[in-house]
Amino acid sequence: MKKKPKRIGLAIVGAGRVGLIRGELAARHPEVDWIGLAEINPERGEIVREKCGADFVTTNFRELLSRPEVNAVVVSTDEHLHVDPVVFASERKLPMLIEKPLATDLAESASTLAAIEKSGVDAVIGYTQRFRRRWLVAKEKVKSGALGEVTMVTSRAFMNRLVAIDNYKRSDNRAEVTPMVISGTHALDIVMWLMEAKKPVEVYARSVNKALGPTWQGVDGTGYTITFDDGAIYHGVISWALPEIWPGAVYSLEIGAVGTEGVLTIDDTHRDIVLATNLIQAEGYSPDKRRHVDFLTSYPVGDMALGELRGPMREETNSWLNRVSLGVPTQHATAREGHNRLMLTKAIDLSAKLKRPIKLPITPDDMKQAG
Ligand SMILES: NC(=O)c1ccc[n+]([C@@H]2O[C@H](COP(=O)([O-])OP(=O)(O)OC[C@H]3O[C@@H](n4cnc5c(N)ncnc54)[C@H](O)[C@@H]3O)[C@@H](O)[C@H]2O)c1
Repeated sequence: MKKKPKRIGLAIVGAGRVGLIRGELAARHPEVDWIGLAEINPERGEIVREKCGADFVTTNFRELLSRPEVNAVVVSTDEHLHVDPVVFASERKLPMLIEKPLATDLAESASTLAAIEKSGVDAVIGYTQRFRRRWLVAKEKVKSGALGEVTMVTSRAFMNRLVAIDNYKRSDNRAEVTPMVISGTHALDIVMWLMEAKKPVEVYARSVNKALGPTWQGVDGTGYTITFDDGAIYHGVISWALPEIWPGAVYSLEIGAVGTEGVLTIDDTHRDIVLATNLIQAEGYSPDKRRHVDFLTSYPVGDMALGELRGPMREETNSWLNRVSLGVPTQHATAREGHNRLMLTKAIDLSAKLKRPIKLPITPDDMKQAG
């Protein structure tokens, strides 16, 4: 079989931590000929341009996305700032990899999805954990029926509060920065992906805010139960308020899925590789002076080794570049799935706020009526 790969001119909008990772990976991809960056912070833009060997840098994403070289786009701005570049890129019919969540406001997420679907462009969302081998193997087993009919799923996501503090620091709208919308969405996506044939019909949730509430007006964690139309249930818990000294730099996740014929348990807590040192560790988000023990590999994007990022975000980025270049199918979340995850996380937060069950799906009007 002869393959005729399409050469790629890649635009990266938002050259922060993730934009830099995607850019460095793209620079090594054989089909990428040209990389352009849009970054509102010019100093940061210059640093990333140099690190990726990018060909072009601007502070204006519209200028970048209007360049003739561009035929694919990564949108890696802050969570609440994806919408404008995504809508602009949709109008230009450019395929996109959009970081999660699609948006942080439900009405914006709906209008962004409408813009994507109207243009017919191929847009996928960066649910990176779909590229971690263990979740992929789990997906294969559930899909091929090894559990029989799945009836009950549980997930436990524990996160160092460094991640929450980083998010609260860089947001001007803290009410939208909840553990579900920003981080719980990863665990939720994995479970919903495992249960993709099922339709969620109701959610019931509660939140607590005693650790992050006083300083950051934030939410510590949320517990939720989603019921499906066939009677299956999914119970999840996320806390992003674990103390800074907690050895998991970022994310610890456990999932159990029970079916009529089998059970699947997945330990992604990273307790199998532990480092203790007198020196301060810099893995993941802002290093904390008090942390001298690390569960390695807990940074969801992957791990730096021998000067390169190894792990899920590398596989995800390369796989997406192959999707654009060769048209091969990949397991990326679609834009519609991305909107569905945002809707579910918003419904969970709404149920916790109103302290009552919420029928699914919810619409932007439901959010408005609830104030
Ligand atoms: N998949 C994963 O595992 C994973 C991990 C971390 C972050 N993320 C997601 O990636 C996205 C970026 O996160 P990050 O940690 O890189 O944040 P970051 O703050 O490091 O980077 C965001 C960058 O976007 C720039 N920016 C904002 N608006 C812009 C605009 N209109 N035009 C150009 N540049 C603009 C900011 O100046 C900043 O440099 C978020 O959506 C986040 O949730 C995903």
